[in-house]
Amino acid sequence: MKLISRYTVMLLTFLLFLTAAAPAAFASGTTGSSTSGKKLVLGTSADFAPYEFHKVINGKDEIVGFDIAIAKEIAKDLGAELVIEDMGFDGLLPALQSGRVDLVISGMTPTDERKQSIDFSDPYYKSKQVIIVRSADKDKYPDMKALENAKIGVQKGSIQETIGQGIPGAKLTSLDKISDIVLQLQTKRVDAAIVEDTVAAGYLDDMIVLAKAVPDEEQVEAAIGIRKGNTELLTAVNKTLERLKSEDKINQMVTEASLLMADKVNKKQNIFQLFWQYKGLYATGIGYTLLLSALGVFFGVIIGLIICLFRLHNMAILRWIGTTYVEVIRGTPMLVQLMIIYYGVSLTFGINFTALQAGIMTLSINSGAYLAEIFRAGIQGVDRGQLEAARSLGMGRGAAMRYIILPQAFKAVLPAIGNEFVTIIKESSIISVIGMVDIMYQASVVKNLTFQGLNPFIIAAAIYFVMTFILSKLLGRLERKLGASDRR
Ligand code: ARG
Repeated sequence: MKLISRYTVMLLTFLLFLTAAAPAAFASGTTGSSTSGKKLVLGTSADFAPYEFHKVINGKDEIVGFDIAIAKEIAKDLGAELVIEDMGFDGLLPALQSGRVDLVISGMTPTDERKQSIDFSDPYYKSKQVIIVRSADKDKYPDMKALENAKIGVQKGSIQETIGQGIPGAKLTSLDKISDIVLQLQTKRVDAAIVEDTVAAGYLDDMIVLAKAVPDEEQVEAAIGIRKGNTELLTAVNKTLERLKSEDKINQMVTEASLLMADKVNKKQNIFQLFWQYKGLYATGIGYTLLLSALGVFFGVIIGLIICLFRLHNMAILRWIGTTYVEVIRGTPMLVQLMIIYYGVSLTFGINFTALQAGIMTLSINSGAYLAEIFRAGIQGVDRGQLEAARSLGMGRGAAMRYIILPQAFKAVLPAIGNEFVTIIKESSIISVIGMVDIMYQASVVKNLTFQGLNPFIIAAAIYFVMTFILSKLLGRLERKLGASDRR
């Protein structure tokens, strides 16, 4: 019995450690919610150098670029603190409409279609569309006609996607991030990509070049997106833009951002150098993954116990609720559940959960269903005779459950519970799609920063493996100790 409690304590300590390791990451989170007095929440898709992009400065991952510089000026004029929410470009409009962010600065072109759902400031920058190709195909695309039937990469939800859709027979690959599109081009999955000239400049090297073909679009402009009806902010934004233009600040910001962008990363680092250079990013990621999984497990166990009680209850309606919960949650993908909680709830009810809150909710709601089934199987797996024997010795129902049934049930399902914990750690990587800065997210950031497609993910895999391995070893020991006490 003493041994059992020692290992239980060890396990609990480990779980506690999981929770404790994260607050540091917690505090430096980028997941602020919407307008609270002095905060200005900026929505952007930081894959668009020199407009907005990630850059490691003094070992810390930062979002920089001339859009960000403009945002800082706006915040300064408003006397507000700037909070940046980085997300996929096509998530920006919904985020603005639902109030998750206050404004969008993301090199966004004020198209008529977009103007129907949001308002735009005065334009602050002009650019042109270009086609980039692999250097071997330099002369293959002299005009737009040559691009017909080609495989073309574009950013999801962008005007480049619309341009691509206008090319007859073209097979479009629409992706979230520009860097992914360039990677697709490098790895020959697409033949060409449509991007803006200022942005293309950052990718041109001996492998990627400009094609002669250019889309016959006139110049496009970039403007700042603001929620319809928020005229106060619109006026303030236009005032700041006017000031910046009159001081010729915007050109200066573009130059500075371009210099930062041109300061290229070393692409030939091996996996150890890579890990060492970006260890800070991975550490933050580990903090968030641990926090997500620990709280996901914690609330998952609570939900699981409640649902399990429902399923074993005498009242038909409670049993029905329990069964429905389990069936629905197990029968739908976690990614869909996440989207419903993060976007669905906010757009429909105006409740904006941060990525962390939505992530923890999704993980616990999801694992609750699996844990409920595990608990139920455990309780039902204990021989009926045990209960009868206990009762005939004069134990009450509750006491028999507590002292006779539950300890045996727990022992029997421990391996299954352990598996579920390991699963949660791995599944938590899904939360990265809403911008949760976990291990998976950081691996993508490192990929975007270094243009290495393999090593950043191998490192992530190794980290996940170490975490799950330690956990299952600890669980294994606990199991063996319980088994040993049985044999005595
Ligand atoms: N100007 C284009 C548009 O409005 C592309 C903007 C993409 N911006 C970004 N941050 N990735 O559709």
